[in-house]
Amino acid sequence: MDALRALCLCGKDDASDGNSSDGDGAVVTTESAAPPHPVVEVDCRDFDDGTRNFRLERRSVVWYCETLAREVADAAVDCACDEAARDRLEARMDMRGEMAAAGIEDLPTSFGASKRPRTARKKKKQKAPQKKPRKKHGWAVGDACECFYEGDGLWYVGLVASFAGDDGVEVALVGSECVVVVPHYWLQKTTRYREPEPEPEEKPKQRLEDAPNPYAGLVDDKYWAQRFHYFSLYDCGVRLDAESWYSVTPEKVAASIARRVGGGRVVVDAFCGCGGNAIALASEGAWVVAVDVDARKLDMARHNAAIYGVADRIDFVAADAIGLLPTLKADAVFLSPPWGGPDYGDDFDVAAIRAGGVDGVGLLALALAAAPRVAYYLPRTTSAASIAAAAARAGAARGGIRVEAHYLNHRLKAKTAYVGWPADHAWPKNGKT
Ligand SMILES: C[S@@+](CC[C@H](N)C(=O)[O-])C[C@H]1O[C@@H](n2cnc3c(N)ncnc32)[C@H](O)[C@@H]1O
Repeated sequence: MDALRALCLCGKDDASDGNSSDGDGAVVTTESAAPPHPVVEVDCRDFDDGTRNFRLERRSVVWYCETLAREVADAAVDCACDEAARDRLEARMDMRGEMAAAGIEDLPTSFGASKRPRTARKKKKQKAPQKKPRKKHGWAVGDACECFYEGDGLWYVGLVASFAGDDGVEVALVGSECVVVVPHYWLQKTTRYREPEPEPEEKPKQRLEDAPNPYAGLVDDKYWAQRFHYFSLYDCGVRLDAESWYSVTPEKVAASIARRVGGGRVVVDAFCGCGGNAIALASEGAWVVAVDVDARKLDMARHNAAIYGVADRIDFVAADAIGLLPTLKADAVFLSPPWGGPDYGDDFDVAAIRAGGVDGVGLLALALAAAPRVAYYLPRTTSAASIAAAAARAGAARGGIRVEAHYLNHRLKAKTAYVGWPADHAWPKNGKT
């Protein structure tokens, strides 16, 4: 499907001028030159154990089992239909066993078959491990002992090496190459000579998630440790560049936003990066136009989308979003512009965003011109006041603005401002992950 073509067909709707609160949170009004836009703030809590997603692996195991089962079933059908084939097969298998026992398993088997009737075949009993033969005085070769040596009247630590007659026992002395012959009643049990067994090293099992950072020096360890938060299928070959390691939207958060932006719609992801949000939106059923000024990142996004099986729901456009947005019409625009690096500071102001020559407010205005609904992904330190002021200056309709604070495993990660949704919109329940 060509989402770009679909863009031309969809119009704007749902522009909201409803009330300010859906009962989910407190109404925050702000001081600004423009009339304040009411903002509803809600927490959106997600949990993620940060481990690999084994869906794909399970799928391949099932596939393998199915294949195996099919082969066995086919063989069974062949045999069931053809008595002679079954006999030949079984005879051949039998013969292989016999040949293996005789050490001639490599010889061809086509010259004959076992003549034994099938009923006569019995499973060979598994032989119990053979016990060391013991002499009647109770000693066996290999036993640990102390032996009295008449020569000097001392006791030596040794091993029973062999027997010399009924009573004479040959003892190899531990720590020397001497073998002495003593009567068995000069031996006594000992464990003294035993090498102390090495303490089993307490090696914690290395989980896939704990693998050392292969990009040390390029990618901060703290980002590497979170790779399965970013993409649960990370080790299926997900690609990220240096910037994306700290700017990608964690998968659970992206999924939460995607559920709110909604499937079945045409959504422009104006700053798609390596595809975190575009993949989530497409997975939710949206047709996505994924834009990024960096063609290399788009390639990664395309590759990553293929891993998630949603590449065919996304059009990848290498362009400056600022130039492109005025030419687009969509149901919603998702904005995830650069925040100026990982150190965006406390009390972030939307107006501080810079992208393609416009600031964060101008960007919101462009997005609102392209679609009636805009989801704006912002740093966690962005205040409701800053969002309200930006919405007012960008000319957003005076509807309720919903700001969701994304908590992942109880840590505040980011916020999303939803601008343009009708006041009575039924938002998915918070924390549904
Ligand atoms: C914060 S990252 C987006 C990350 C993305 N949401 C994800 O989860 O993978 C911002 C992206 O905006 C892109 N970008 C910066 N300026 C742009 C512009 N004027 N037009 C389009 N893309 C731009 C950067 O290349 C970068 O990939």
